[in-house]
Amino acid sequence: MAEGTVGIVVGAANARVGMQVAVEILRAGGSAIDAAIAAAREVEDNLADHGVGTGGIPNILGEVELDASIMDGKTLATGAVGAIKNYPNPIDIARKVMELTPHVMIVGEGAELFAKHHGFTTANLLTPEAEESWRVRIKEPEAHGGNMYEDQYQLYAQAVQDWTKLLHEEIFGTTNVIARDLEGNIACAVTTSGWGFKWPGRLGDSPIIGAGNYADNRFGAAACTGRGEMAIRAASAHSVVASMRCGMSLDDALQQAMTDLSYFPDKFAERESAMNIVAMDAFGNVNAASTSDKAEFVVQTVEMDEYELRPRMFIPLKRD
Ligand code: GLY
Repeated sequence: MAEGTVGIVVGAANARVGMQVAVEILRAGGSAIDAAIAAAREVEDNLADHGVGTGGIPNILGEVELDASIMDGKTLATGAVGAIKNYPNPIDIARKVMELTPHVMIVGEGAELFAKHHGFTTANLLTPEAEESWRVRIKEPEAHGGNMYEDQYQLYAQAVQDWTKLLHEEIFGTTNVIARDLEGNIACAVTTSGWGFKWPGRLGDSPIIGAGNYADNRFGAAACTGRGEMAIRAASAHSVVASMRCGMSLDDALQQAMTDLSYFPDKFAERESAMNIVAMDAFGNVNAASTSDKAEFVVQTVEMDEYELRPRMFIPLKRD
């Protein structure tokens, strides 16, 4: 389908809560960056979403740590924050990193200091539902029929193996939004609370440019959700854009990047929905792929009254 030069927003299915606000920005002549960030912020503020922002599933210590990145396809400017605590909208802080600093990524205490310095306000990100999920699985698992972790640190090697068995959609969420404005500029925003019950300080692909996020007006953009470690190893987002640069169609570029994931072993990629990519070419055509046959993505153009959920191309991991 050729959307042509109209403004368009595409993202993971959970970005549906942000489609309308993004499209209204584009309709008013706003920038792709403003639209992508506005949509991402809506997901961060959605308490029912346990993979992004407030309400995100915490790390092993019961602390919500967030990662986010933004990339401007016009200038290739980018900003990212990682493992940031107590700030509900990391996508806005990532934008400030892009606009105000000579850096592209700031993590942990440094990111929190940066956010404080720029007037962002703190909030409690751990909702009762997310805390309960952590308490049942990590803090007091023996009382709920789960495994007993006498010492979270000592048993980490075993625990991380067991956590993979706990993963489900709510625990392993992320969102991404790619927007193209009426001037043809493309921007990509990605935001997440990362792998539920992750090790403190663990970064996935979302804040890493080239892994979970890439945008270049000349060729298109791509963004990942799912097992970030795989996207980092395969540089999946950049891979899609680089393939389009080399002349591949959007669909072929997605197919190539997904097929690459089957090339290397990953014992933690057992779950069906291990990896997902959404992408846009330079003309505003969009598509998405997943290792699950049930996954969807969301699209809305400035001419559409409502978002549309579409099925992703199904490209399963092939394991010997
Ligand atoms: N894709 C999000 C993460 O791995 O943290």
